[in-house]
Amino acid sequence: MAESKLVIEGGHPLQGEIRIQGAKNSVLPLLSAVVLCDEDVVLERCPALSDVYAASRILTHLGCRCSFRDGKMEIRNGGISRSEIPEAMMHEMRSSITFLGPLLSRTGSCTLYLPGGCELGPRPIDMHLHALRQMGAEIHETHGMLRLQGRLRGTDLYLPFPSVGATENIMLAAVLAQGQTRIHNAAREPEIRDLAEFLAACGAKISGAGTDTVIIDGVERLHGCVYRVMPDRIVAATYLSAAAAAGGSVCIQDCCPEDLTAVTEVLRQMGCRVYCHESRIYLQSSLPLHAAPYIRTMPHPGFPTDAQALLMAAHCKARGSCMFEETIFDSRYRHVDDLIRMGADIRLSGRAAVVHGVQKLSGTTVHATDLRGGAAMLIAGLTADGITELTELSHLDRGYEDPEGVLRSLGAKIERIT
Ligand code: EPU
Repeated sequence: MAESKLVIEGGHPLQGEIRIQGAKNSVLPLLSAVVLCDEDVVLERCPALSDVYAASRILTHLGCRCSFRDGKMEIRNGGISRSEIPEAMMHEMRSSITFLGPLLSRTGSCTLYLPGGCELGPRPIDMHLHALRQMGAEIHETHGMLRLQGRLRGTDLYLPFPSVGATENIMLAAVLAQGQTRIHNAAREPEIRDLAEFLAACGAKISGAGTDTVIIDGVERLHGCVYRVMPDRIVAATYLSAAAAAGGSVCIQDCCPEDLTAVTEVLRQMGCRVYCHESRIYLQSSLPLHAAPYIRTMPHPGFPTDAQALLMAAHCKARGSCMFEETIFDSRYRHVDDLIRMGADIRLSGRAAVVHGVQKLSGTTVHATDLRGGAAMLIAGLTADGITELTELSHLDRGYEDPEGVLRSLGAKIERIT
């Protein structure tokens, strides 16, 4: 496919209302969960993203028929006919790993491949594997190939860190396991709650999702359901940060303000007016912004690592200095080089980054180093003098549905050129 780029003319404030797409990090585990159901599933508000298409190709390979139209993914599920996922499919997206728990649980024996590291550094899955072993799985790992077998039974599991992916994989393995599974120190991200609500709608028995102890009582079977995917809180954070940095006033509709408290709190510290009402967030920004003193990424309900790059871009022209500390991933500052090339003053030392606000950024050619790094470049481009060209859009397209269309509807000057 020809290489595309986004061409952004900076300096235009954002104004207007937008609706938020369905959450990538929720819909992907929901698609893995379909493996557990023995009836059809319909996912509404399903975002049109390359990672969603990759997950639906895996489901098709396993024996389902997927069709996607107008934000609705319909999965005809006549039963899972394969218990192996080819290496190339596993490598297409990191979150293919959430097929591990459900495929083993459904088939009793399966083969898949480690998804590998990614732009954010090494991505071990030791917690996923350890938990499945404790539930009775035998796991053989050779050169990245995983062979798993065993009938799973519930037990008490203690996670050393509240990993989102491990919590999801265990929940997915446990719903059809024998007896009760209790996940202690579980991740509390809103996507965990969404997964539990979906599974419950299919007949699973789960309590405590959204707290640090999730309890799952195994059931015999899961039926199908029609389910509306939760709104994407990081996409909402992206457009809020963009409006904060570019100036203007926006209303974000169809989002969940409680899930975004850590982000809206920082935007308030920066001088934005933020009002939340039911499923809407209004933000007004009069430039210049003021730097928030300190942003430390933490598991939910702390400040999300996925919003770190976004807020860093919004800080480049803020008055004062902000110190960021990334505690979740080893390598999540790859956007910094390009921000510096645009004129930002950022000092990096290990897990810390200090941004000193500058008077201006200037447009140049930058690239999307990873999904959120790409979104950060979009934000920087909206605030820079002149033209910014953003390349390597495949990263951005993994998580954002038509970002140029959304930003144009808010008055940004932005075009995709192929
Ligand atoms: N970790 C381990 N061992 C494990 C599992 C995780 O050491 O077995 C480490 C990871 O290497 C990382 C930390 O624990 O340093 C957190 O990882 P976690 O498992 O919580 O993250 P994840 O499930 O791999 C999801 C999102 C990420 C998001 C993180 C944190 C999906 C598909 N991905 O990843 O989203 O940053 O949770 O909230 O849900 C993104 O959307 O751009 C993205 C990267």
